[in-house]
Amino acid sequence: MHADKWAIKAKQSGFKTRAVFKLEEILIKTNSLKGTQKILDIGSAPGGWSHYLKLKLPKSEIYAIDILEMEDITGVNFFQKSIELIDEIPQINQLKGKFNLVISDIAPNITGINTVDIENIYELNLLTLRAAHRYVENNNGKFIIKTFQNSMFKGLRKEMGLLFKTVQTFKPAASKKQSAEIYLYGAKKQ
Ligand SMILES: C[S@@+](CC[C@H](N)C(=O)[O-])C[C@H]1O[C@@H](n2cnc3c(N)ncnc32)[C@H](O)[C@@H]1O
Repeated sequence: MHADKWAIKAKQSGFKTRAVFKLEEILIKTNSLKGTQKILDIGSAPGGWSHYLKLKLPKSEIYAIDILEMEDITGVNFFQKSIELIDEIPQINQLKGKFNLVISDIAPNITGINTVDIENIYELNLLTLRAAHRYVENNNGKFIIKTFQNSMFKGLRKEMGLLFKTVQTFKPAASKKQSAEIYLYGAKKQ
């Protein structure tokens, strides 16, 4: 499908952004919606993924964090905080090890200096990966993170392999071919 068609499809479906189709493809291929009740959305603003998941799973409990403000979404518990400080949010902290699904679309501000940007992405992804490991359910929890194909990608995948039993890489159809973005999926269960 042409890239703009995804934007039209998103509008027709009542979704906030075309990016939901990237998440949706991975969720379907990995059967990650089944039995999912508690969801943690990291780097959630402006709220496209949280909104999509609340529509798909109306009974789910969704917790979302971002450094930017996010418009209210009914049924989504949003906290304006950096991932670095996630443990300081009591409502989230008390749910350590209880999330069925953790998703991250987190992306740092780009400086334009390639080496600095690559390092910043890696550091932020690593923080997110470690937080996901603490918060996701240990038996069957799932984690999906957007990252970028660069010189640190292999290292990140390796780190994920130390914390999750299964690790898979996805390049969803709705992700532009020329974009370096790529997704990692980790499952606690083999
Ligand atoms: C691509 S956007 C997320 C889009 C979102 N998934 C959606 O569907 O609307 C990336 C987000 O990561 C957030 N972010 C960057 N650094 C962060 C940090 N240290 N802690 C939390 N969020 C952060 C940005 O503020 C931005 O809103």
